[in-house]
Amino acid sequence: MALSFNDVRLETAYSEISPAGARLTTHFSRNIGMEIPIISAAMDTVTEASMAITMAKLGGLGIIHRSLSPKEQASAVSKVKFDLNGFIPNPICVSADDTVKEVLDLRKQKGYKFLSFMVTDEGGKIVGLVTHNDFDFCSDPQRKISEIMSADIMKADSSINVGDAYRIMMDKDKKILPIFDGEEFKGIYTLSDVKRILSGNSRDYNLDANGSLRVGAAIGVGEDSYERLKLLSKSRVDAVVIDTAHGNSKAVVEMIKYCKANYPHIDVVAGNISEGEAAKRLVDAGADAIKIGQGPGSICTTRIVAGIGRPQLTAIYNCEKAIRGSGVPIIADGGIEYSGDIVMALAAGADTVMLGRLLAGTKESPGEIIYKDGHQVKVYRGMGSLEAMLANQSSRERYGQENTTPNKLVAEGVKSFIDFKGDVVPIIYQLTGGSKAGMGYIGAETIGDLHERAEFFRITTAGLSESHPHGLNYIETSSQH
Ligand code: XMP
Repeated sequence: MALSFNDVRLETAYSEISPAGARLTTHFSRNIGMEIPIISAAMDTVTEASMAITMAKLGGLGIIHRSLSPKEQASAVSKVKFDLNGFIPNPICVSADDTVKEVLDLRKQKGYKFLSFMVTDEGGKIVGLVTHNDFDFCSDPQRKISEIMSADIMKADSSINVGDAYRIMMDKDKKILPIFDGEEFKGIYTLSDVKRILSGNSRDYNLDANGSLRVGAAIGVGEDSYERLKLLSKSRVDAVVIDTAHGNSKAVVEMIKYCKANYPHIDVVAGNISEGEAAKRLVDAGADAIKIGQGPGSICTTRIVAGIGRPQLTAIYNCEKAIRGSGVPIIADGGIEYSGDIVMALAAGADTVMLGRLLAGTKESPGEIIYKDGHQVKVYRGMGSLEAMLANQSSRERYGQENTTPNKLVAEGVKSFIDFKGDVVPIIYQLTGGSKAGMGYIGAETIGDLHERAEFFRITTAGLSESHPHGLNYIETSSQH
């Protein structure tokens, strides 16, 4: 017997918690916290830099998909990490011999928003600082950076904190503060970031220890994974997600071990699985979080094509039971249609949920808006759809078909078009608001309380149809129903 969200609901219980008093803070993985339990899926129509930046600013997390080349993926991670900062270790440096034009071209090509760079000589030693003002007052793009930079830079010691940095910068009218440990250059503070941190405006962001937005990236088990890992680590990725359709496999176990041995500072998430025995195997191999979901996704056809995959609610419950006490968080991936499903996924044992369809078709998701039958739509496709597999080796590898000729590919997903939804922010507000409402009905102040207090009962199809709006002629589409 295995059940999914639509088979059950949660019992209400005596409560002293109002929805506003419920807290959604949780863990993505052993070492990575989150302010809200929502992750955007590693899919080529869901998460690149723009979605990941917005998700982290909302307190969640985005996982950059792996249909990008290793370089493109690492550059998307960099964009997120440089979007805002507290302390910036290894900032982008330019060479004193570069021309102004070369630096401006690089900025445009990489999509950097900032225009202040530390300047190095041929040997990589810091010799100056070039800022927005220097570029503004330069009318000849062929001039060398060494001619417009300030060579006499202010320095501060690496022992200072954000408050000290703010005082020094205000005192000396400087927007950039380079930090040194003796002679060794360690990084920079920037005034705008330091001000934001001190004002408390970013309290609900998902930030790393340096005050940069957190971001994850998908890898596979194939040859390019090693290069991906190297470049992702350089880009300061917080976590990698070993993104396969069959996580209970030798290749995934070996990849977890490889990551932990070679990149111990990066959290490793492994999946996807749907059985308790698999959960235990991945945790024993060293995974910092596990991802549950084989076939529940809106675009998935794995259950139809391969006949496998335990319905999601029982899959989450069984996996949680198998690894209880290990401290390894569980991600419920796929099949979430409403905020009520998030509450049920968490109640069954998940710590976070991963969403594809609900976040696709937004301004922040990759892809162009196209017109279909007079509607503005965007593509949302399974990574195992024929289109995704034909376009990308990594999609073929996700489904174990990396060596299959195109005419013999077996799709495990579909391509669809969904109405353009605008900003992702109000969607997340609905989902977190609904989740807090559920916690209020159960008397759960935290997700941990929800795990303990939640009781499910089964419902019938009559109960399910009673749950949705019914008997109405016209329903406004502005809310979930
Ligand atoms: P939702 O329901 O949020 O699901 O749209 C997103 C999740 O679905 C998984 N995924 C796939 N599963 N065939 C599958 O069987 C596919 O083509 C496919 N593409 C994505 C993935 O885990 C994602 O997070």
